[in-house]
Amino acid sequence: MIKLMVRRALRLLGYDILKIPPRKRISPVHEPPAVPPVWPLPRRAQMLTNEDIRNEFARHPFWHYAYQFDGGLSFQTSHSNPGLDTDDPMRPLQRFRHFMPYLVQSQGGTLKGKRILDIACNSGFWSIQCALLGADVVGFDARPELIEEANLLKSITGINNAEFKVLDFWKMSLETLGGKFDVVLNLGFLYHVPKPLEALELTKTMARSHILLDTALYPSDEFALYLKWEEPTDIRMAAHAGVVALPTRSSIELLLRHVKFNDWLQIPVRTKELPVDYLTGRRASWLIEV
Ligand SMILES: C[S@@+](CC[C@H](N)C(=O)[O-])C[C@H]1O[C@@H](n2cnc3c(N)ncnc32)[C@H](O)[C@@H]1O
Repeated sequence: MIKLMVRRALRLLGYDILKIPPRKRISPVHEPPAVPPVWPLPRRAQMLTNEDIRNEFARHPFWHYAYQFDGGLSFQTSHSNPGLDTDDPMRPLQRFRHFMPYLVQSQGGTLKGKRILDIACNSGFWSIQCALLGADVVGFDARPELIEEANLLKSITGINNAEFKVLDFWKMSLETLGGKFDVVLNLGFLYHVPKPLEALELTKTMARSHILLDTALYPSDEFALYLKWEEPTDIRMAAHAGVVALPTRSSIELLLRHVKFNDWLQIPVRTKELPVDYLTGRRASWLIEV
């Protein structure tokens, strides 16, 4: 009764009370040991000279990640629509140190022999890292030119435990990808689709053990999805023009609850050596137990 009266009074003043549902946590939470990225990338395919690799990189005008290879060979990012955050060569390495230790810990301390799916793999940065850590990886992306780039990376590093496919997310199924995966990486993708709830449900169908979710967030305490129009003007954007939904942090918690995941943990920010969007709450990552 008192709560109702307070709420009525607040409403008259233009305010309201929001009930924040209890958050679930994968427990107990121990900070996992550090896992460094495999960097610079090894060059196991000795037949490719520096000049060959430079020529192959030059065939592709746009690169989402900066790459560095053994022997001092390195390449910058290149976007048709450059972004302050995304062009920093340290970005994927800092993201790796942020969330990969939690994933590795969840798999018993190693990715060796784990089957991993990399949704929207772009040029394969995460797939290649997981393959170098011993996982069997399938990566897919809707953009054929990015799958060509991923296959170039595969041939330079000489890995044979990663496979790349051109595939639209909504065509993803157990049939198209050969059954379930121990781990599904849903990184940098959720905010490029109009239906994040359905996207999480579909992601769940592919996972046996864990999902690693990393997403941009709309900065608000509301349980909201912020809609905007996205054009496919850059290799980091939605593959087709249309509405996309940027979730808030609170709405992610509700979506995870609705999909009935067993447990989840928002990966804590433990260092200032992170891209600024993670430090300011405009992006976050979750380890989800299916
Ligand atoms: C911001 S990038 C994220 C890349 C990578 N997963 C990461 O987190 O570093 C978004 C990626 O989603 C891909 N993408 C966009 N819409 C897609 C769709 N419908 N199906 C598959 N991939 C899509 C883009 O081509 C791009 O590679």
